[in-house]
Amino acid sequence: MTERPTVAFAKLSPPKKGSVIVLAPEGGALGEAARACDPAGILPKAFAAADFKGKLADTVEALAPQGTDYDRIAVVGAGKTAELDEQAWLKIGGMAAASAKKAKDVTVVAEVAGAEATGRDAALIGLGLLLRSYTFDKYKTRKDDDGGKKGDTKPAKFTIQCADPAAAKKAFAGLSAVGEGALLARDLVNEPANVLGPVEFAAKAKELESLGVEVTILKEKDLREIGMGALLAVAQGSVRPPRVAVMQWKGGKAKQSPVAFIGKGVVFDTGGISIKPSGGMEDMKGDMAGAAAVVGLMHALAARKAKTNAVGIIGLVENMPDGNAQRPGDIVTSLSGQTIEVINTDAEGRLVLGDLLWYCKEQHKPQFMVNLATLTGAVLVALGNFQAGMFCNDDALAERLSAAGNATGERLWRMPLGPEYDKLIDTKNADMKNTGGGRHAGAITAAQFLKRFVAETPWAHLDIAGTAMASPASEINQSWASGYGVRLLDRLVADHYEG
Ligand code: BES
Ligand code: MN
Ligand code: ZN
Repeated sequence: MTERPTVAFAKLSPPKKGSVIVLAPEGGALGEAARACDPAGILPKAFAAADFKGKLADTVEALAPQGTDYDRIAVVGAGKTAELDEQAWLKIGGMAAASAKKAKDVTVVAEVAGAEATGRDAALIGLGLLLRSYTFDKYKTRKDDDGGKKGDTKPAKFTIQCADPAAAKKAFAGLSAVGEGALLARDLVNEPANVLGPVEFAAKAKELESLGVEVTILKEKDLREIGMGALLAVAQGSVRPPRVAVMQWKGGKAKQSPVAFIGKGVVFDTGGISIKPSGGMEDMKGDMAGAAAVVGLMHALAARKAKTNAVGIIGLVENMPDGNAQRPGDIVTSLSGQTIEVINTDAEGRLVLGDLLWYCKEQHKPQFMVNLATLTGAVLVALGNFQAGMFCNDDALAERLSAAGNATGERLWRMPLGPEYDKLIDTKNADMKNTGGGRHAGAITAAQFLKRFVAETPWAHLDIAGTAMASPASEINQSWASGYGVRLLDRLVADHYEG
């Protein structure tokens, strides 16, 4: 949580000092503005020495050219000019931040020979810079060789030079609001569970009020009165009481029904009495990534004043083994009235979400509901870290989500629902059980469980267990948490549900 870097835009003109980053397309040709930063012509030699060919996201660093007062100059590959899409510009921005290293005064010359960089392209570079610069180092008290920050916290100042800085600035206002939302989600997911319990998380949601979001926090007593028996059953093993946060952004027409986003916020998932093995259990501090994405999204929508009505609902609980914890075999009554036999207390996320989905549908009558949850290990088996699993009862919504995923690079893959899978969660003892029996189709049976709480509302469930955390480092993210879902859902809203 170092301070964010600042990003400003300016006209193309050779910078006087600081670190300079220029771009080169595949083939390595330098544009006019880049050549003006290299009066002695050292870059072509540096390309040859480093075997740099301008491939997208490749970088090469050279000493400061003769005849300049630069600290250093670096080049970022822009790839094939015909393939310069949104993802490419983001990656270029990410790699520009990476090659800036610890420099504090950095100029990025957003010019690619043979391709016009629009204002929006330059703004996307800015978003890439912002996402890549993120580190979670608030708990490092010593300076170390790994970038430990004590005494070195001054944020970098980036200036992006481009043909139309006014348009870039305008585009960046929206993009940076979304970027901030994604970084907020990363911060929440990276935060350890001893610091971020349900009460503390709810307080973070409450902070959105400063952006004009209406936030209601439901406490344990409220949840009991409402009748969220399934969510409460998960929470009862923890000494830390549960919370549900309801966040409303009213940027659309008064009568328009809202779009709704629901997040699993298990601040720590030990598995409960069906306890998890200890190896890797620390990762379960991230079992609230769905809730974090919803908070980040609401931040983004409010910060860019989206012309839409949106509601975000998150269920904040801790799943612990305890004398008061729920047991396998317990039968609980959900808010919907449907009863659930708890076969495995580690299948807790669906208990939380079932109550939230029903609550959302009844209270807010939304146009659609999208829930995000680190719900199953099975989705990791199926899709790895690269795509989220999507389950959807509405083809139009599924199409829109897929398109938003491809546009933002936060991709998802649609997986099946069906009556044969639904049957797997039937039980003799109650209306349903919370696991599908064996390990087969584990992500699907979890989705079938949720489907029993949405009735006819268009709905999508995004299983983000593989994409929200512990995903491989990328051009635009080096942190454990990715912030997955914020840019995706902001795009869904922007493309279809505004105005
Ligand atoms: N939070 C976990 C799922 C998870 C696993 C998230 C790995 C991120 C990484 C979830 O609550 C869980 O424990 N699911 C069980 C369900 C099973 C008991 C039916 C699982 O996937 O093993
Ligand atoms: Mn679990
Ligand atoms: Zn869980």
